[in-house]
Amino acid sequence: MTKPEPAPRICDYEGSDYRTEFWENKGRDYEDRAERIALRRLLPKQGKRLLEIGAGFGRLTEEYHAYEQVVLLDYSLSQLQYAQDRLGRSGRYIYVAADAYKLPFQPGVFDGATMIRVIHHMASVRTVLAQVRRVLSPEAVFILEHANKRNLKALVRYSTKKQNWNPNTLEPVEFVELNFDFHPEYIRQELQAADFSVGRRMPVSFFRLNSLKQRIGASVLAGMDGLMQMTGALYAPSVFVKAAAGKHGVANLNAASIFACPDCGGSLERSGEEMICHRDHRRWAVRDGIYDFKAPIEDE
Ligand SMILES: C[S@@+](CC[C@H](N)C(=O)[O-])C[C@H]1O[C@@H](n2cnc3c(N)ncnc32)[C@H](O)[C@@H]1O
Repeated sequence: MTKPEPAPRICDYEGSDYRTEFWENKGRDYEDRAERIALRRLLPKQGKRLLEIGAGFGRLTEEYHAYEQVVLLDYSLSQLQYAQDRLGRSGRYIYVAADAYKLPFQPGVFDGATMIRVIHHMASVRTVLAQVRRVLSPEAVFILEHANKRNLKALVRYSTKKQNWNPNTLEPVEFVELNFDFHPEYIRQELQAADFSVGRRMPVSFFRLNSLKQRIGASVLAGMDGLMQMTGALYAPSVFVKAAAGKHGVANLNAASIFACPDCGGSLERSGEEMICHRDHRRWAVRDGIYDFKAPIEDE
């Protein structure tokens, strides 16, 4: 008998101070602005329901105003709590704590998805892309950001023998545990294998150098980055890809409920502050407005 594949490892941000220690007053205004420029260029003008995978504390969520509804999904409940404190509890935003490798949704219920600064934590790109494709309707838009292995700094370091891994080869490099850089061609091939067609790709964050950021204001640098993004020269530390789901599959945008059991795919019914699976009878909690699919409620 063959052993089941072990579940991919997860980079857990539960309780992390990512918002205050990485973004707020940490000199990353330029990166934030450059990413917003890229996103605005790639996002469609309107849509019904967008899934933001690895939404964190909702740093970019307001960029998705063209969509009628945004589902923020993250493995970390605490990040989602921050997001909810900022964005509020209207029906426009739905907060879901879950593993991106086991998305708790019915097939085809989203016409848009984004994944920004998240796939670099993914040990199994193939598994997560298959999940994203499953929950998207045919021809839905998927905007994926990935850390770029073939960036200028890595090319110089490799050619001067300061780095032993080759930035030109396709395999991912795990430079710190659960932090991967990907070659743009590797990501293109994986997207195609998962039934996405790859459209525009933009290099982002060319000027991610403290010496430059200390001398030149964030808005000027971001403006320059915006120009560089248009060149399509994929040698920046970050790459944004616009992909479209294939033509086949289910469109389920008007489903009565978007949710499905993450373990068995069965339909879920809400009862008070619990979601109950019709098929395997597992129960999942709704805690202070956040659907918690990280682990089922234990029977007493
Ligand atoms: C670097 S943060 C990016 C947050 C946000 N996208 C941004 O750009 O500000 C990465 C996020 O991915 C989430 N994450 C990592 N692995 C995950 C997984 N397997 N399922 C769901 N979320 C995951 C983490 O909890 C974290 O909030």
